Amino acid sequence: MKKIAYIKEKIESFSNTIYIPGDKSLSIRWILMASQAVGTSIAYNLLRSEDVLTALNAIKKLGISYKINKNNCKIYGKGLNGFNFKNNTIINAGNSGTFSRLIFGLLVKTKNQIILKGDNSLSKRDFSRVIKPMQMFGQNIKSKNEKLPIKIKGTNYPRPIIYDEKKGSAQVKSCILLAAMKTPGKTKIKSIPSRDHTEKLFKYLNLPIKIKKNKKKDFISYEGIKNFKGFNYKIPGDISSSSFFMVLTLLTKNSKILIKNINVNKSRTGIIDILKMMKAKIALKNKKNYNGEDIADIFVKSTNELKSINCPIKMNSRSIDEFLLIFLVCAKASGVSKFNKIEELRHKETDRLKFANNFLNNIGIKTKITKDSFKIYGNPNLKLNKKYIIKNFDKDHRACMLSFIAALTLGGKWIIHDTDSINTSFPNFISLLKNLGAKIS
Ligand code: S3P
Repeated sequence: MKKIAYIKEKIESFSNTIYIPGDKSLSIRWILMASQAVGTSIAYNLLRSEDVLTALNAIKKLGISYKINKNNCKIYGKGLNGFNFKNNTIINAGNSGTFSRLIFGLLVKTKNQIILKGDNSLSKRDFSRVIKPMQMFGQNIKSKNEKLPIKIKGTNYPRPIIYDEKKGSAQVKSCILLAAMKTPGKTKIKSIPSRDHTEKLFKYLNLPIKIKKNKKKDFISYEGIKNFKGFNYKIPGDISSSSFFMVLTLLTKNSKILIKNINVNKSRTGIIDILKMMKAKIALKNKKNYNGEDIADIFVKSTNELKSINCPIKMNSRSIDEFLLIFLVCAKASGVSKFNKIEELRHKETDRLKFANNFLNNIGIKTKITKDSFKIYGNPNLKLNKKYIIKNFDKDHRACMLSFIAALTLGGKWIIHDTDSINTSFPNFISLLKNLGAKIS
């Protein structure tokens, strides 16, 4: 793939049906859980992106083999105590926040030490969020400033913990649940709701997870230890990847799209609810269920009557990876849009709040930014004709893909650097855009 893309024209109207690759969160979770099962697990439609390959290579280094076939992927698990590796084995987590946080949980009981590394972007990110609960389990962790590289060694006698998860982070919650699987006794988590794929996967596998909810918090408990058998799993399309095409369609005159077989788990559909509140035309069709996850086709039609939003805080976790796109829609909506308590955006692959602020200002949109809030003064008549150069975004795949959507819907002449970052989550993104008629060189 070329590392620089040039876009000189908006995309023309289109009306298409598309398929999006498998969900990244589910693909990584399947790999980690299959590595703990007894016997062979098979996944269909596993995402084939860099973050997923990172997870597969890592379990291989930890002593679990896998095979990628044309239509599926197989992992040969050896049960909860099946990892086998030499002291000081280096695991490179690349760019993957999800893999690098969740793997701590699976290392709660290992005898030998792992050295966990990552790329430049991941090495700037916060790991105190998983170090704190994992130390409570008894894991031995050595790091400088709680950043990668980190040395991780398990304990012979993990202790169950009671943890108050206050960030609304699914990565932290899932890391604790994976550790709880290998820890005798009852681990309890009180958590601000966040994506619940790990819980759903545990239920699908009949593992002893209990969940109670009130309006603001989830109360989850897990009684370890229980081995489970290898399992088959069908992975639906990724809603976060689909969102780029939802917004492309919304902002392109006289266009419509049907995006097939997407995971519409309620903890992930904040973008749909937010865009509907902004008067977008979106409908879910053909609802079904794969292995405990809700699936649907997403139908989107373009509109030029978008309204601003005062975004309810409860949407934050449900649309955490889609805010860059939502901010772009706000730029084209009438009125002032407001977002609060969104500091977590500063802890993603790049500081996405800072990136969004610079990006919108560059295309002539007024904003107001604080540490954890953002206001966008929309302009429905926004049309661009200058030159825009997008670089220095810590190779954040979503910042890069956002730039393509802006270029194709707003006009102007765009030069987008580091397009190889897209391989992190969505390797065929550019070819799908070209199939819809986008001119990208
Ligand atoms: C993810 C959780 C979210 C999300 C990330 C994937 C997951 O991160 O941003 O892309 O698969 O659990 P946080 O848990 O840090 O919010």
